[in-house]
Amino acid sequence: MDSLTIRKTFLDFFEQHGHRRYDSASLIPQDPTVLLTIAGMLPFKPYFMGDATPPTPRATSYQKCARTNDIENVGHTTRHLTFFEMLGNFSFGDYFKREAIRWAWQLSTEHFGLAPERIWVTVYEDDDEAEQLWLEESGVPAERIQRLGAEDNYWWTHAAGPGGPNTELYYDRGEAYGEAGGPAVNDERYLEFYNLVFMQHELDDAGTILGELPAQNVDTGLGLERMAVLLQGVDNVFETDLFAPLLARAGELSGVRYGQRDDHDVSLRVIAEHARTSAFLIADGVLPSKEGRGYVLRRLMRRAIRHGQLLGMDVGGGQQLLLPMVEQVIEQMRESYPDLQRQRELITRIATAEEHDFGARIRQGLERVDQAITAVRAADGDAFPGDVAFELHDTFGFPVDLTAEIAEDAGLDLDRDAFESLMQQQRDRARAGAKKGGGGIPVEAYREAAAVVGTTDFLGYESLTAEAELGAIVTPGGVQHTAGEGDEVEIVLPRTPFYAEGGGQIGDIGVLETPTGRLQVLDTQEAIEGLTVHRARVTAGEVRQGQPVEAHVDPSRRVATARSHSATHVLHATIKEFLGEHAQQAGSLVQPGRLRFDFPHFESVSRDRLAEIEGSINERVLRDPHVHTEVMSLDDAKRAGAVANFGDKYGQVVRVVTIGEFSKELCGGTHVPSGAKIGTITIVREESIGSNTRRIEALTGLDAFNHLSRERLVAEEVSRLVDVPSEQAVERVGQLLERLKTAEKELAKLRGANLSQQAKQIADAAPRDDGLAVVVQRADGLGHDDLRRLATELRNHLGERAVVVVGTATDDGKAQLICAVSADLAAAGVEARPILHPAAQVVGGGAGGKGDLAQAGGKQGAKLDEALQVAAREARAAVGGR
Ligand code: SER
Repeated sequence: MDSLTIRKTFLDFFEQHGHRRYDSASLIPQDPTVLLTIAGMLPFKPYFMGDATPPTPRATSYQKCARTNDIENVGHTTRHLTFFEMLGNFSFGDYFKREAIRWAWQLSTEHFGLAPERIWVTVYEDDDEAEQLWLEESGVPAERIQRLGAEDNYWWTHAAGPGGPNTELYYDRGEAYGEAGGPAVNDERYLEFYNLVFMQHELDDAGTILGELPAQNVDTGLGLERMAVLLQGVDNVFETDLFAPLLARAGELSGVRYGQRDDHDVSLRVIAEHARTSAFLIADGVLPSKEGRGYVLRRLMRRAIRHGQLLGMDVGGGQQLLLPMVEQVIEQMRESYPDLQRQRELITRIATAEEHDFGARIRQGLERVDQAITAVRAADGDAFPGDVAFELHDTFGFPVDLTAEIAEDAGLDLDRDAFESLMQQQRDRARAGAKKGGGGIPVEAYREAAAVVGTTDFLGYESLTAEAELGAIVTPGGVQHTAGEGDEVEIVLPRTPFYAEGGGQIGDIGVLETPTGRLQVLDTQEAIEGLTVHRARVTAGEVRQGQPVEAHVDPSRRVATARSHSATHVLHATIKEFLGEHAQQAGSLVQPGRLRFDFPHFESVSRDRLAEIEGSINERVLRDPHVHTEVMSLDDAKRAGAVANFGDKYGQVVRVVTIGEFSKELCGGTHVPSGAKIGTITIVREESIGSNTRRIEALTGLDAFNHLSRERLVAEEVSRLVDVPSEQAVERVGQLLERLKTAEKELAKLRGANLSQQAKQIADAAPRDDGLAVVVQRADGLGHDDLRRLATELRNHLGERAVVVVGTATDDGKAQLICAVSADLAAAGVEARPILHPAAQVVGGGAGGKGDLAQAGGKQGAKLDEALQVAAREARAAVGGR
């Protein structure tokens, strides 16, 4: 049975048993507690938890899943996969153990045709009921039912959420796979293929059962790949129809055959498996990056490239690997997952870019790895140095986990602590460097200040003014004791109401005063971790270390910034609702009265959609939702569903900003106390800022109002000009443009008729000399098209043996000439261009064209008459005796 039929058989069966069928949800989960969709139940989690009312009591689905906890094992075994598909049937407080067991048995034996006598079952150690039901509902005898502990027969998401005891179905693959005795002793011979979870508990992050769920539920998962192994009679997933074509393709590309050499097989499996996961991740909106899901994707792609290299391919040099591989994935899977086809361009573009980029660097990187390994071995060491891992990361783009894996292959352990500490130093440097106008202050100076002052307490959530002691004055030369009028310095205080730029929000400005001097604060930054600096200029007197300071944040600017920050949260929540969960904040800038918000999306947001989003945001704000901030543990925050950026570093204690019912984010920024204080929000731009990333810019508060007000003035001016009320102005302008177009057409027609008329008159009056008519006509004021038309009309009216030269002097003093020769003369070899050429030279230009028509132009319009005479002479000479 091929995999398509397996999917269909499962879904049809449960549809026939009253289940509503669901297509696969995204690999990017709605649920913030997990990085990726790890199981078929995840999209249904709110129904299990009782957080939402299920639209149907019974559901069945196929679901793409990704688990990335042991990427390094993939390829080395034939079991580990980072991507797999789960077929599931679900009950939300409807049927429970009996039906789940009955149907699992019927489906497995009657519809998938598995031999009943080879099916074994495990149940949770104290689940007597499940065992009894197996005996009643199926043909499994008691001796093929085994009881196991929580490790094997209790399932939960390994994050705060639902869980429960389970029962699993296994298939005996026969003696060839080792000793008998059931799944409890041999899970290679007895292959698990179907897991029935009886969801009934709520658990916390640590796996402690907190209590009963509101209802008893069923969550099942049948592994599509495993079922394909069983029904296609093959040894492992890589031999099924899901993988064989991918391995074959990887073999073609590398010139290596699967099944010939163990190490080659490892590489082929890595390439096939990772290409599959990568294609699906990209299709769901994950883009390669340094953190979170993007890091997982990058790691998979780069690991695959490395294995291409191990097979002797020059990836990124002359050879392509990822691109043809993801194309193969799309071909194979698009029927069940049309998103792959829809996102084909994106997938292929990213695969190409990644192999181009990393492929170009990997060879040198691997040489560096070899050197380092040789050096460690020569010194009898067993640790792969952290600084080399850092260099590989920084210069050659090696994800640290890839380096760790390569080191491990060589029998070395990566010194992760050393690597992490170098990463931290780099972050500090970047932060110090990014500081605007940092004036080249070395990190050591900040460290010196931190040694004196410690870390900075931020008081600015509650207050915009504070008193503190002047802790340190930092300059490029180091920490100093005083600063005088005109000096630009950075001030460190042990406590401050000034917000240091962070989380997209810009730093505060304001004033610092000591008894002897005054500083204008131009910006506030976090120079190194925990240390806030006020970049300031001494505007009066002198300031000294140790003096008391009164700090005043500029209040109107801060309030305008807070509006934009709260607006950003409202926008974020709303955009995700409209465009999908993938549209997670990817960057933001929060300024007074203005915000910028970046998010992954694959196409521009249409004007209508944008207007709907804008409308929804303003409606929400007007309802004046309460803005509530709370400090809690990271675990509690995640449990409460706060939006955190995976990959961002958060301490164990975090601040959660909640706006009304719709937004909950981890955020250190400053906010308005309630939604209506944001005032108006208006979106002024939506644009692309690189591959699949969109940027929205919006104005808030008074800036939004002022913008709209200016726009209104423009609209009013337009409606005044077109003399209708503004709501009719667009229609009116449209009508006017239409009329203008008609009028222009009409005009062109009239001019054409006029030209034709003129041509006829000139032709009728033209003298013939020995049957030859040479007509030279000056027609000022005609554009190029009209001039050409005049020439051809004249030629038509003149008939045989005619040469026409027309010219015009343009308003800017240039000359244009056209020469047309009648067909009979042209046939006798008289060409237009040589006739016009000497005339063109007279006006300082050249002639072009061929056969019976030529044109010329020159800068000296004043010599047009002379040029026309030259052309007439040339015409006569050219016709000569012909
Ligand atoms: N959630 C269970 C699993 O992932 C059953 O679907 O195995």
